Amino acid sequence: MTASTSDIEKAAGVLRAGGLVALPTETVYGLGADAENPAAVSRIFEVKGRPPSHPLIVHLGGAEHLGDWVEDVPATARLLAERFWPGPLTLVLRRGHRVPLEATGGLETVAVRVPDHPVALALLSAFGGGVTAPSANRFGQVSPTTADHVRAELGDAVDFVLDGGPCQVGVESTIVDVTGEIPCILRPGGVTREDLEAVLGCPLVVPSTSHVRVPGQHPSHYAPRARVVLVEPEKVVVEAELAQELGHRVGVLLPPCFPDTPVRAHVVVTVPDSMDAYARGLYGFLRELDEQGCDLIFASLPAEEGIGLAIANRLRRAAGPRPTA
Ligand code: TXA
Ligand code: MG
Repeated sequence: MTASTSDIEKAAGVLRAGGLVALPTETVYGLGADAENPAAVSRIFEVKGRPPSHPLIVHLGGAEHLGDWVEDVPATARLLAERFWPGPLTLVLRRGHRVPLEATGGLETVAVRVPDHPVALALLSAFGGGVTAPSANRFGQVSPTTADHVRAELGDAVDFVLDGGPCQVGVESTIVDVTGEIPCILRPGGVTREDLEAVLGCPLVVPSTSHVRVPGQHPSHYAPRARVVLVEPEKVVVEAELAQELGHRVGVLLPPCFPDTPVRAHVVVTVPDSMDAYARGLYGFLRELDEQGCDLIFASLPAEEGIGLAIANRLRRAAGPRPTA
């Protein structure tokens, strides 16, 4: 059920009172607070179980507000904002005085975006300020792409959940740092590298996932409970069946090149042929395999072009080494 006008008014009131609102965006659901209220922002970290050094994204109702939140707006940022906002692109810029250090993890830069979702935009307009929001999941877990995911994961810890239906992009925004001479992709996401390069007229560097480069970008992230194992597409079936025979409860994200292949595994999800549909469904598939009790998930990486780059990035992180308790 999509949020009504009165739901939006109520949510804006919760934000004004320093509460937390889960809000839909085109990428994933966010856990929002008044960006200018340090106590409310700190509660986000408590609810998520996220280290306070991990910076958040400030969501704005329109590109025209950008100058109020950052120190300066370089030409590259203006160009990208004009072309891609509202949309799944986050820009990292120099922090303006309005943004408390609680929201930036102590950094002198701030991440900002204008989400492309009618409910998010209505909330931002009714509220009038900036809403700082990470994905509405516990730290390190799979991001939510429906209001039900949020309710299941955060329950009463969030004061109000705005339902805007399932997220259309399904993976988080692309983060581009525009504070330096050369713009740099910090996280691949809903806006493709190819689209960014076409607008900027130069090639962009995408960091590997093997190193922690910015706070909040750890190798193990976006991870379901089940362990994710990445194998070559042609080995997915044989490896999955072997693990199942060895007594595991195996989930399979079956590449679309093997339609209708019977696989002896606990749960098999054939991933969509369309990369956009795969991105939209990815986190739901991982949650589903968890819910069905899988302890291992076999998957392979799609071609790393277009939105496939973001899918591969999330699968690599989901399969990354996990912190030991
Ligand atoms: O699509 C999205 O971006 C979603 C929706 C809710 O907008 N949000 C999201 O937030 O994915 P979160 O907190 O899960 O991821 C934000 C990432 C952090 O991992 C952090 O690394 C990066 O943004 N970030 C934020 N501020 C930064 C900064 N000043 N410098 C570098 N990276 C920053
Ligand atoms: Mg997140």
